[in-house]
Amino acid sequence: MMNEIISNTKFDVELTNESRIHEVDFDNLVFGRKFSDHMFEMTYEDGQWQQPKVKPYGAFEITPAMNVLHYGQAVFEGMKAFYVDEDTVHIFRPKVHHERFNRSCRRLCIPETDYDTFIEALETLIKLDKQWIPQESGTALYLRPFIFASDDLLAARSSDKFTYQIITSPVGAYYAEGFNPVSLTTTDEYVRAVSGGTGDSKAAGNYAGSFLPAKKAKEEGYTQVLWLDAKEHKYVEEVGTMNIHFLIDDTLVTPALTGSILPGVTRRSIIALAEDWGLNVEERRITIDEVFEAHEDGSLKEIFGSGTAAVVSPVGFINHKGRTIELDREKPGKFAKKCFDAITDIQYGRAEDKFGWVHEVKI
Ligand SMILES: Cc1ncc(COP(=O)(O)O)c(C=O)c1O
Repeated sequence: MMNEIISNTKFDVELTNESRIHEVDFDNLVFGRKFSDHMFEMTYEDGQWQQPKVKPYGAFEITPAMNVLHYGQAVFEGMKAFYVDEDTVHIFRPKVHHERFNRSCRRLCIPETDYDTFIEALETLIKLDKQWIPQESGTALYLRPFIFASDDLLAARSSDKFTYQIITSPVGAYYAEGFNPVSLTTTDEYVRAVSGGTGDSKAAGNYAGSFLPAKKAKEEGYTQVLWLDAKEHKYVEEVGTMNIHFLIDDTLVTPALTGSILPGVTRRSIIALAEDWGLNVEERRITIDEVFEAHEDGSLKEIFGSGTAAVVSPVGFINHKGRTIELDREKPGKFAKKCFDAITDIQYGRAEDKFGWVHEVKI
């Protein structure tokens, strides 16, 4: 049977014949395992992006010589859409995510994309697959745009063809069982990124390189690696898929974006909130020794990570060469909780969006 095609948007939409939504257990959503019925796709060839389309989610053909499989030329984004009520969904800061997407493209030698197509693709997917948007507080529809080199090309140079896709996935409440402070360890064996490299882009390869150190940290009983700078192993950078913040007395100290740290959208939102609340806010380099000194003299109040997945993630324990910092491992600090509440209230439409962070979609 032919799939129905509708052309009521800027691009053609091919509808699925059979929804897979019955496969989803909305009470037990596992992050990144189930994907909504439709996806967006646009290819780049002959020097330009071609006609975009929305089509049923599904496998596509790749060849063994596809450039991305060998040279890793690929970038992605990760953001969320939040159910507000039966008519409304909020996408959190899509413009900033799109700016970062294009920045990543420039660094990876991938052609940039325009915001109009990006937002219209997201809106179309959200409306078509609105049944897939979980409604419980804390849940969301995860939105994953990505672009990869799709030429058949066994040569270590930029591809001439690219494929841009967006898939969406219902995700559960991160804190269903309450905040769980994470424990971190530094490593002097591995580095994540170096200034001038691709660490400040959302490049696929950055993650592949971090899997082994993350696995070793897990085996030693830590949740994640706390990355230090690659040159001197002195300055705190970030964690897995989170940026990091320190509350020292009443100053929020966040590692400065020195070229090897991903500029997180949540990081930026937390800094904006802290400034708005009148806190002292410093974006600067901070050494791991300074963190230990602040802990020893009692001025270190809180440590927490920030990222799209959890919003904030309290840090309860840090190991650095056998020296340890132990904070309250049972509950998040007051400031981290205040950031979490302020951001999620805006995301779910429970608070006024005074910074203009949400993009409203009428479903
Ligand atoms: C390496 C890295 N750092 C930080 C973050 C947090 O960024 P955001 O707040 O935009 O999700 C992420 C997640 O995207 C990440 O992958």
